[in-house]
Amino acid sequence: MSTQMDWFEDAFFDEPERDSVDGGTTNLGPLWHGVSPRWGHSMHTMCSYHGMFPAKLVHYFIQQFSKPGGLVLDPFSGRGTVPLQARVEGRRSLSNDLNPLAYVLTRAKADPPSWVAMNRFVSEIERHYQSHGQPEPDVPPDIRMLFHPNTLRQITFLRDRLLRREIVDWSPEELMLAGALAGILHGSHRRDGTSRCLSISMPNTFSMSPTYVKNFIRDNKLNAPDQDVFECVRDKLARLYLDSFEGPSGQSFKEDASSLLAGKIIKPGTVDLLITSPPYLRVVNYGTANWIRLWWLGIEEVGRQRGAGRRSLDAALDHQHTYNSYRTFFVRMLKGMRRVLHKDGVAVLVIGDVANPGEAPLPLARQLWDDVGDESGLRLLDLIEDHLAVQNKVSRIWGDTKGRATDRDCVLVLARDDGDPVRATDVVEWDEPYKDGGPDAAHARLRDLRHAS
Ligand SMILES: C[S@@+](CC[C@H](N)C(=O)[O-])C[C@H]1O[C@@H](n2cnc3c(N)ncnc32)[C@H](O)[C@@H]1O
Repeated sequence: MSTQMDWFEDAFFDEPERDSVDGGTTNLGPLWHGVSPRWGHSMHTMCSYHGMFPAKLVHYFIQQFSKPGGLVLDPFSGRGTVPLQARVEGRRSLSNDLNPLAYVLTRAKADPPSWVAMNRFVSEIERHYQSHGQPEPDVPPDIRMLFHPNTLRQITFLRDRLLRREIVDWSPEELMLAGALAGILHGSHRRDGTSRCLSISMPNTFSMSPTYVKNFIRDNKLNAPDQDVFECVRDKLARLYLDSFEGPSGQSFKEDASSLLAGKIIKPGTVDLLITSPPYLRVVNYGTANWIRLWWLGIEEVGRQRGAGRRSLDAALDHQHTYNSYRTFFVRMLKGMRRVLHKDGVAVLVIGDVANPGEAPLPLARQLWDDVGDESGLRLLDLIEDHLAVQNKVSRIWGDTKGRATDRDCVLVLARDDGDPVRATDVVEWDEPYKDGGPDAAHARLRDLRHAS
């Protein structure tokens, strides 16, 4: 990847895509093949996230294995697709992720403030900014190089305000601001030089290393645009709130997933449907892939090899296992899942194959199940294989040596060994458009809401 053009091609998350990012064919016939990643509630597009699965996949399993009012759990919730989809479909949800970025996105989606409350909140902070201003920000050069000085002053004003309290104590409005701004913190410029994002032109989906970005800015003589952060955030929020939402608020946690599944927070035998995608084997480092957004949330030096933030995340997250240690982690996970599942509940685990340099890719899900399935107290209902169009995987642009994701994802569908889950007989239509009547109806709703506020 060496030209700005490449960044344009690779970076869009917020724009419609020609092909499905997650498209493929499965051994059960069409599954999420060909489904637009933009299918679903507008709030799903808050912020891209490595390893994210599409909302329609969650919809499929919610429809197959749960009833309205049922309890859905995601212990590795990433960008929060499961709690948002559960809410939209009238299910209660519990979700969890130890990565601060994932936690913010998850909680913002599980329990969003109203559109009116959110706009009031942004206007109040803007008034405060205008009356108090912000001194010259004291930020590391890795961050300074990405933004225009005026934009950076606004970003650091908002950041200082958020960081007065711990993330777990943030209000729904603060979480929504943090998540929405994370989604536009960096991204590509349009061909006419304008942008919805705040940074120099760079990918939206992930953060390149600071040294790479520095050289890229120098070689391509990139300039940071003078973006008004409040205006860009309002524009982003308007897009997130296009679809209305009812349904129960979800609860979110920032715990180690094994401890959550073994601890007191979740009552044993209560979860009707668990849908999750655990970290794969050294495929993604959830710290480095997000170092700029993590800085925004107060985690310093994630971009640097020996940085404090990088070390603390590496110590906490399960993204650095060898196969043997991953196996131990996986058994612990399955036992915890068995514990919280309702007798007739179902657990759905999405796990990609992993590249094995010089050898055939490791079919991680199948191998793990063969190795440790009988220790888990669970039984296999289905093993679904979904072949991805490899050119659509974000990790392909790392090249063969760095990206370890392959072109195949597997879904393990598990039940308790003493359980008898009921599967809905209705077929999920994969080409069914999203239920909100489309963008025109959503824009009309937005106009009405703005009128009312
Ligand atoms: C494959 S991603 C999940 C992506 C999610 N399905 C989505 O659509 O966005 C795996 C997640 O596990 C989280 N994680 C890794 N180790 C963890 C741990 N020990 N406890 C809780 N979360 C952890 C990572 O932060 C990451 O968000």
